[in-house]
Amino acid sequence: MEHYFTNAENLKSEIRRINYSLDAYNFTFNSDNGVFSKNRIDYASSFLVKTFLTSKKEFTDILDVGCGYGFIGITLSKILKRHVDMVDINKRAIHLCKMNIEENEVDATVWESNIYESITKKYDLIITNPPIRVGKEILMEFLKGGLARLNKDGELWFVISKDQGAKSVKKELEKTSECEVVAKSKGFWVISAKNLLT
Ligand SMILES: C[S@@+](CC[C@H](N)C(=O)[O-])C[C@H]1O[C@@H](n2cnc3c(N)ncnc32)[C@H](O)[C@@H]1O
Repeated sequence: MEHYFTNAENLKSEIRRINYSLDAYNFTFNSDNGVFSKNRIDYASSFLVKTFLTSKKEFTDILDVGCGYGFIGITLSKILKRHVDMVDINKRAIHLCKMNIEENEVDATVWESNIYESITKKYDLIITNPPIRVGKEILMEFLKGGLARLNKDGELWFVISKDQGAKSVKKELEKTSECEVVAKSKGFWVISAKNLLT
């Protein structure tokens, strides 16, 4: 069985277009078979973006890790008027994300990376709706690896479902970071984390 996080280049392409509005901004996302949430913007991702924007926090260097077709990075880049870096392992998602960066006219760059493998710098904000079905080990690499790549006073923001271990993940991260559950909705928690060690 193909999962959205594998490279399903042989999967038939059926591009679809998803419209999304936030405040005064209108976005169009190209999506396709073989990528996460191919038919609609994911509720949890949208909840993460809206919660982050409500916080009114200001960050300069931003990374969206596991960007898929680019929903989180593209909306943040447009609304915050910031450059955003984006990475994913799924080649089709990266291709779509490039199309979406262009179509939504945002200042963003996307490239292929196995989690942080090709990341060479640190960030003020790392934001993610991490893959869950890949297992706890990879999930924790997304999160702990993110903490390790934050500048001083940087923050990791992510969304996770209560049923998918939000409590235990938070407990694990609290060993090295200051974690806050910023908001909860429909079983999803938006969590922010800051390094205790830097
Ligand atoms: C839950 S989806 C979120 C996608 C997108 N950010 C969104 O909000 O619609 C998680 C993403 O992580 C990507 N992913 C899975 N394993 C990965 C890995 N090892 N390195 C980088 N990205 C990965 C998947 O391809 C998928 O696009």
